[in-house]
Amino acid sequence: MSGNEFESFVSSVDRTLRSTSIVRDRARTVCALLTQALSQEQFKLDCIERAMSTMNETLVTWRNPPIYRDQELDYRIRMIYWPPHYENNPHEHNTWTVTGVLHNRMDTIVYRWGERTEVRTLVVEKKFAGEPGHVGYIVPPCIHNVANPADSVSVSLHIFSGLGATVGEDASAEDFEPMGTIWYPSPRKGEIVKGIARRALIAHTEILAQIPGQRSLTLLDRIFDLGDVSVKLASVKAMSRIDIKHTARRLDALSTVSPEPARSKLQRLSTKLLSSTERS
Ligand SMILES: [Fe+2]
Repeated sequence: MSGNEFESFVSSVDRTLRSTSIVRDRARTVCALLTQALSQEQFKLDCIERAMSTMNETLVTWRNPPIYRDQELDYRIRMIYWPPHYENNPHEHNTWTVTGVLHNRMDTIVYRWGERTEVRTLVVEKKFAGEPGHVGYIVPPCIHNVANPADSVSVSLHIFSGLGATVGEDASAEDFEPMGTIWYPSPRKGEIVKGIARRALIAHTEILAQIPGQRSLTLLDRIFDLGDVSVKLASVKAMSRIDIKHTARRLDALSTVSPEPARSKLQRLSTKLLSSTERS
């Protein structure tokens, strides 16, 4: 049933945080919980549903809010949509964080100071290549950054904790990292917010295309309704892997708002899809 896997994950995180105050133990256990959660398609659908529930027709003002927050236990859960080849600046958090790869690939790079504690002396110590489903944790002190080496958008899922994890939702303007983060030399202010809604919709479409089923189809419908023409086309392409008749109807709807020659082309494609279902 919808939402169950996410709720179950949150309950387990809550139990963990109530059972220990040792930072490394918290991070390690939440890391294991997220690894298990990300292996489940229903959990990914829950995450996308939660993100989509924060979107409305005025997408231009959407700033990718957390998909879950707990004031009392002082943590929040975020999905971050990384542009192709985007890399944030080195930084360190004031407490533990857990990061998982939901879609495509995210690399994490860990640094150490060189001869002096000046930004230019930071030296790469380790690099972790994160494939979908990979999860890692960071406890302070640890200077790190993340990079999307892929040619298309990558999506990560984060559990951010600690002072400020429940305040400063506008931290999204500073690379989405939690308040209290120390940057070397500074966050790449505002860059990741540009085009965030469209990037999120495209990423959701790519993830849903890999999880055929009614829940994905419902979400793709919502993406179709919210997105621009290219997002609509991407969502229709993903729908075609789930329900051909439904796809044909959506193509027909898209044709009515498209100029020629696209209108005729889309109508022909819709008719062709419908007749293919009648033959089969
Ligand atoms: Fe970070």
